[in-house]
Amino acid sequence: MERIPATLIPGDGIGPEIVDATLQVLDVLGAKFDWDTQLAGMAAVDAHGDPLPENTITSIRKTKLALKGPLTTPVGDGFRSINVRLREEFKLFANVRPARSFLVGGRFENVDLVLIRENLEGLYVGVEHYIPIADDPHAVAEASGIITRHGCTRFSEFAFNWAIRNNRKRVTIVHKANILKKLTGLFLETATNIGKKYVDKLKIDERIVDNCAMQLVLNPNQFDVLITTNMFGDILSDEIAGLVGGLGLAPSGNIGEDAAIFEAVHGSAPDITGKQLANPTALMLASAMMLDHVEEHEKATRLREALDAQLASGKHLTGDLGGSASTTEFTQQIIARL
Ligand code: NAI
Ligand code: MG
Repeated sequence: MERIPATLIPGDGIGPEIVDATLQVLDVLGAKFDWDTQLAGMAAVDAHGDPLPENTITSIRKTKLALKGPLTTPVGDGFRSINVRLREEFKLFANVRPARSFLVGGRFENVDLVLIRENLEGLYVGVEHYIPIADDPHAVAEASGIITRHGCTRFSEFAFNWAIRNNRKRVTIVHKANILKKLTGLFLETATNIGKKYVDKLKIDERIVDNCAMQLVLNPNQFDVLITTNMFGDILSDEIAGLVGGLGLAPSGNIGEDAAIFEAVHGSAPDITGKQLANPTALMLASAMMLDHVEEHEKATRLREALDAQLASGKHLTGDLGGSASTTEFTQQIIARL
């Protein structure tokens, strides 16, 4: 079989630990990725003084495919999120975030949700500034959100088609068009219009984001696929991860015109870095999404089944899931199952 060129970014914090665990599992599966390892984030600042080196961009431009560990972003001051810059650089306009209940006896049974987040627009475009008044340089802060018809159209087309391709039945458009009448109103209007083409294949409805957040906690099983704007998607996807056992179980695929980058939903988890406490499941599930993306469905399914069986067994789980296994012990269990 031909090898598939792909960029590998180990990332910051727990990144290198979970990337290493995931590579071991992909190796046992016989996944034929030809990795080009590149730096980004704090690791790249330390090595090259630049959080997003040109070599990393060149590599992804060539491979159009990457597996990425989490990258630390300074809070407040400091450089702009490299995650956001990568999404912009490669026009990764949709972020697919599935969540399933893997654990037996968790808070909810049979949750099977997918949140698809618009990944480039809205309030995360980074158009913001302070207005100084008198001797206070931060007297006022102002941000602009930007949403375009073009962006909403491209995103909605992708999301509805993804839902149909993956055998989903219902898509809920999540918005705040009662208050942000234009900013998220344009998203609702465009997605609703595009949705008319798909009504024979999908049930399409809409929810206001705050109500949706509450409904998710009361009864997550009422939803199937949720599609929403960038910031609401960021917040709701962590909430959805919490419904099924936490961030350690939540994978994500950034899909775009020029490339696809797969990663965990979670960040670099500085509080547990280097302690063998990280749950590698989220990144392993992201690598299964990556295998599906390159049409290696059989390997993707085998990996998901091994993770499902391990998590359902309730044994050798990592600390975030109430167990006491180390990252390495958990990984060994998955390898044994494969
Ligand atoms: P975080 O997701 O890193 O951690 C939140 C909590 O979840 C922490 O208590 C952490 O220990 C726990 N956690 C996360 N992943 C885990 C795993 N695999 N196993 C076990 N426990 C896990 O979020 P936080 O602390 O807000 O952000 C830390 C840094 O990560 C920040 O610099 C942030 O900007 C960055 N970040 C990067 C992302 C990315 O690269 N895509 C996404 C989110 C945050
Ligand atoms: Mg987030």
